[in-house]
Amino acid sequence: MKIAIAGKGGVGKTTISGTLCRILAQNGKKVLAIDGDPNPNLSRVLGIDPNLPAPLALSTDILERVEDEDGTRRIEVKLGTDELLETYGQQAPDKITLLNVGKPEVAGSGCMCGSHTCVREVIHSALSEETDQIVILDMEASMEHMKRGTAKYVDMMLTIVEPYYRSLEAGGRFAAMAKELGIEKVYAVANKVRNKQEEAAIEQFCEKNNLPILIKLPFDESVGEADLMGKSLMDHNEGSELVQSLRDLTAKISLN
Ligand SMILES: Nc1ncnc2c1ncn2[C@@H]1O[C@H](COP(=O)(O)OP(=O)(O)OP(=O)(O)O)[C@@H](O)[C@H]1O
Ligand SMILES: [Mg+2]
Repeated sequence: MKIAIAGKGGVGKTTISGTLCRILAQNGKKVLAIDGDPNPNLSRVLGIDPNLPAPLALSTDILERVEDEDGTRRIEVKLGTDELLETYGQQAPDKITLLNVGKPEVAGSGCMCGSHTCVREVIHSALSEETDQIVILDMEASMEHMKRGTAKYVDMMLTIVEPYYRSLEAGGRFAAMAKELGIEKVYAVANKVRNKQEEAAIEQFCEKNNLPILIKLPFDESVGEADLMGKSLMDHNEGSELVQSLRDLTAKISLN
């Protein structure tokens, strides 16, 4: 199963991605986490020691152009899964492996096409054989990612929304683009919900936009506390309200 986590800036994509990875891994899944944000911070939420050297970021070196018998040209990952993970993967707690997308080399050089293609093709070809494996892609907030089809080959997209209008509107746009990419299962996940009024606002928007809500996650003070200490929520307070709700989310995901 391959899942992309998308949404507007700051809605909680990385917090949810990293914590979900830890819960899934503790439940016995083989988890591959992909940080698709060129400003990476998934490693912190996963609980990787910040003093460890940064791993190699994915680059276009892993790709090659191939031509099929019928003359169709396509891009493929030239390394096998084991070699790819050995070279670019970083070990995280609970036996999770993390891959990081590359940054533009020079400030202002701007173009991220190569990195988007790398992530897309890694998800597509290299990691499809094992059934007990879960791939979680923490996406960059920008729509550019969606336009370039980075998440094209995932089975499910969770669009994270917060209870305020611009976040909901952006969530609706992410979901619409996910459907255009052909992703079969597209759900909203409401985050930072504080009360019934906020719940109702999210429900109303999602119903109007034909976007099913998979779960509503509470606003949880422990998340900010963990962030302040640069710690993973799982290592700071694994009994917190958000972790409990994310355990419910993993159950819902496995039913899908
Ligand atoms: N359920 C929650 N309760 C309280 N605070 C939360 C919750 N989820 C996320 N946050 C807080 O929201 C902020 C943004 O979270 P996070 O970095 O996970 O979002 P993001 O969508 O990955 O952001 P970006 O778009 O910058 O990558 C952080 O300060 C985090 O502590
Ligand atoms: Mg993030």
